[in-house]
This record gives sequence, C-alpha cells and structure tokens, in this order.
Amino acid sequence: MKIAHRKFDCLVIGAGGGGLRAALQLAQADASVAVVSKVFPTRSHTVAAQGGINAALANVRPDNWHWHMFDTVKGSDYLGDQDAIEYMCRAAAHLVIELEHAGVPFSRMPDGKIYQRPFGGQSQNFGGAQAARTCAAADRTGHAMLHALYQQNIRAKTHFFDEYFAIDMLKDKEGVILGALIMEIETGEALLIEAKTTLLATGGVGQLFRTNTNARINTGDGMGMALRAGIPLEDMEFFQFHPTGIAGRGMLITEGARGEGGYLLNKDGERFMERYAPHAKDLASRDVVSRAIATEVRDGRGCGPKGDHVMLKLDHLGKEVLDKRLPGISSMVRTFLGIDPAQESIPVFPTAHYTMGGIPTNRFGQVVVPVAQGEEAIPGLYAVGECACVSVHGANRLGGNSLLDIIVFGRSAGNHIIDYLRDHRYHRPMDDNSVEQAMARLGRWDQRGPGESIARLKDDLQAIMEKYCGVFRTEDVLQEGVIKVKELEQRLQHARLQDHSKIFNTARVEALELENLMDVALATVCSAAARKESRGAHSRIDYPKRDDAHWLKHSLYYKEEQRMAYKPVRLKPQTVDTFPPKERVY
Ligand code: FUM
Repeated sequence: MKIAHRKFDCLVIGAGGGGLRAALQLAQADASVAVVSKVFPTRSHTVAAQGGINAALANVRPDNWHWHMFDTVKGSDYLGDQDAIEYMCRAAAHLVIELEHAGVPFSRMPDGKIYQRPFGGQSQNFGGAQAARTCAAADRTGHAMLHALYQQNIRAKTHFFDEYFAIDMLKDKEGVILGALIMEIETGEALLIEAKTTLLATGGVGQLFRTNTNARINTGDGMGMALRAGIPLEDMEFFQFHPTGIAGRGMLITEGARGEGGYLLNKDGERFMERYAPHAKDLASRDVVSRAIATEVRDGRGCGPKGDHVMLKLDHLGKEVLDKRLPGISSMVRTFLGIDPAQESIPVFPTAHYTMGGIPTNRFGQVVVPVAQGEEAIPGLYAVGECACVSVHGANRLGGNSLLDIIVFGRSAGNHIIDYLRDHRYHRPMDDNSVEQAMARLGRWDQRGPGESIARLKDDLQAIMEKYCGVFRTEDVLQEGVIKVKELEQRLQHARLQDHSKIFNTARVEALELENLMDVALATVCSAAARKESRGAHSRIDYPKRDDAHWLKHSLYYKEEQRMAYKPVRLKPQTVDTFPPKERVY
C-alpha cells in the first residue's frame, strides 16, 4: 500500500507547553521540526493551567532554588529523583525570565517585577514560613504561556500538522525509533512521518476518571504508544487529585484561590485544615488537602443536602482582588454555578488532575529502559511533560511545578536532540513491518457489524477507575478494579464503529483514544494494587504508613503480561547534599 510520507529531523507529538518548548529550541537551531497535534495547538491542555509556574525569583518574599528543591523533594514524599529536581529548580528562574522575554504577559508587582503568589507545600528556609514562588499571569498562566510559545514557534518556522492523530511509533529491528504513522483527522488518510528523532509530549491521562479537571483530549495517547512499543510506564499508581474541583463537575478552581487567602470550611463552618496541617493549613500539599476534604465528607461533616462537598470561602478577599488576581475562576463560577464568589462560597471536592507517572526519562528527556547494568536510552526517542516521568514529582506534585517541568525539560530535550542530530545525520531505512502493524491498528476500526459503543465503554471505564482507584484505596477494591478493567479490555475487542466515513470522523478518533485509555488504566490500577504502602497521592487504608524499607523505589509496568518491575530512586542530587527521607508534616 502506498502511504504519503514526509521527512523531518525531529517529530514532536503534542503541542502543549512541553512539545512547543522543545520544538522552539530545535527550530531556533535550524533543525527541521514537525509538530503533530490532534487539536489546534493553542487548544492543548497547557492552556487550562491556572495558578502559575514556580521559580525562586524572590520578588515578593525571600527565596532561593535550594528551598524550592527541598519543598519539591518533600512534596514528592521522597520518591522524586533528586538529581532531576535539582536541575529543574536551578533552571527555573532563568527560564521564567526567558518566557517573560518571549512575550508571556505575567501579572506585575507595583515595582514592575513579576507577581508571585503563595502555593501549597512551598516554604522558605527548608520548611519554615510560607513562600511566594508561583509566577502568575492572573489565573490564566498556562493560556498566556501556550500562546507565547506558539507564536514564537510560528516565527521560528516550526512545521505544524494541526488536527492529525498519532497512531503509533515506528521502529526497526534494532529498536531505533524511526518516526510515527499519523492520521489526518479531516480526511481520515494516513501519513507516515520519518524522523531522526521523535519526542512524545502528549500530556496526561485525566480522562481515566469521570470527575476531572482535564480536557477531553487527555487520553494518554503517548503513554499508550509507549506501552505498545514495549516501553514500561513508571509510577502510574500516583495520580493527583486536586483538592478544589467544582463539586460534582470537576472543573479546576486554582490553588491560587487559597494562595490569595481563600480557605476551606466544613458544614460546621470550621476551618478544618487547621486540624490536618496546623502549620500550612489550606496550603499544605495537595495530597494532604484532598485527603482532608474526603475525610471530612466521609465522617459526615460535608456540606449541602447530600453532605458531599466542602466550601471554599473567597468572599472576604473582596471584589477588587478577585477581579485582578482570579478573574478566570470568578467568571467560571458565575457561569457554571450562577454564584458570585465575592458574595458566596464555592462548593468543592477533590477532582482527578494530574498524572505523576509516565514514560520513564532522564533529565535530557531521553526515554530510558532498564537493562542488566541500570538503564539505557532508546536511541532517538524522547518524552517530556505530563506523559513523561523524569521523575521530579515523585508521589505527589507541587502546584506550579507542572508548568515548570514542561519548560525545563522541553528545553533540555531540545538541546539533547540538537546534539544527537550532529551524530546521526541520516534517516535510517523505514521498517515495513512496523508500518504494517500501525496500519493494522488503524484498519481494525473498519471492521463492520454489531458491537459495543465506544462512548458506553469509556463511561464505564471512567466510573470503574473512580470507584476502584480513587483517593483512598484498599487491596480488595484495587484487585476488583483490575478484574473490572480487564473485562472492559475484552469488551473493547468487540466494539465496532457504526460510522465508517473518513471525513472528520471523530468516532474513529475516540475509538483510538479509548484503546490508549484502556492500556493506561490497566497500568494505573495494576501499579496501585502492587504498591503496598501509602505514599503521596497513593493512599492505602490497609497500608496507612509510608514504608521506605520496602517501597522507596519506582514502579515499572509493562503491557506484556502486565508485568511489574522496580528501579531505585535517585537520592543523590548533582551538586548538593541529599534530602534524606523524613516524616512529612505540614
Ligand atoms: O491550582 C492550580 O492552579 C493548578 C496548578 C497546577 O496544577 O500546577
């Protein structure tokens, strides 16, 4: 079969902040770069990031990168790799200023410096007073960053394939990645992109859960592609539930709302976080605040007729602060709840937000896999951002560190690719077998006849993940979750499309997305069932304590045989002393 094809130095799959930051680095170095995105780039999920990006600029309160590093290690519940965390926190200030120069319209202090707000789990002086480290463009920071990065890429002549869906990576017998087969959504036609290097930047997998803060596009496509290519996923049991989603709907109310002085109340009007985190209170780390809210509700202190949420109080901040610092969430609450946050509190409950695990990488963005003597990089393959696990977030990410992660590691992957291209100047021959396999994945959805609906299967998957792999977990519930997801996986084999048309057939895209979701769901629930301790966002009622003696290690899940393996946490930073695991108190 003849398939149209194009050749580039680098293929970037995903046009969020990580993909665009890497692409910019490459395009500015005169590499030929293709960015493939299933949505128009400025609709990528980075656009939804609200509160800000962390960097120890010390514009508002004293700060330095080493305190930021300490908070990130502690926030990760000591599962983060300290060499990567040091690298990220050191790079932050420089890269935020670079963003400012690229045109990001940050909010300003009266003296003209970038405005920084307090965020959860962030301290001065290694656990002391609250820090103000999160650089904000009101509560639309991701929007501001994504648009600036897109415009800079247009200027640098990055080649965009907008509304193309990546089917699978292509690799040769030696395991070298040769590019990917993609599908143009408008025509349904396949296109083969041959590339010397491929970078996955496809974002997270919030669509695993029914109630989430994520865009509908966050279906773990890069993670699914990696699993099918035989690459394991790391630390998938760690999924972050953001404390303040709009109750029952899931939309994000930024942590910046608490950073600006908002706080949580239970049905008795009690500021309950004082009991759970006497020092940091409402600005404890997210896993702590989410568990506290779930506990209040479980123990009968929830608000509303069903007692199923708590209230976020912002009215005392006043209209001026809300309009200036939190205009986006104020407008969202007015639109979706019909209430004015300057007058009334907002009903909130934890909502699925962020995938801490992902495709294993080193701090250059290279995808790494275990070998007998440690691990080795897959030639030509990179991953950055939420689809990757570098791991700077460990078991729990700090708010404001995701925008930082995509900028720091997008840039460092770009730089590494530039070096790689110097030594790898030619495209390798395409592997026909690999192309056929990818075409077969696409062709599978041309099968006709009766079968289950994709929408129904997706609903069932989200409900199962919410019920069996939520904030609090136990062995029985997780094992049942594994069985239920496997049943769904079987049902997916018998699903069929009713509409086989080629032109803008979104049903076909949803079917391909569901295949990715299913693989990643199984990775998540199997990894969670395997980890018999509580750490960060992974909270086991039957194993309530962190167990460093047995579980201070990263998990790796392989699709083949649903096998688990483990690798050590890198506790040694590059230049400073390690932060040894300690009990985490806020
Ligand atoms: O709460 C927020 O604004 C979310 C920020 C983040 O996840 O980093």
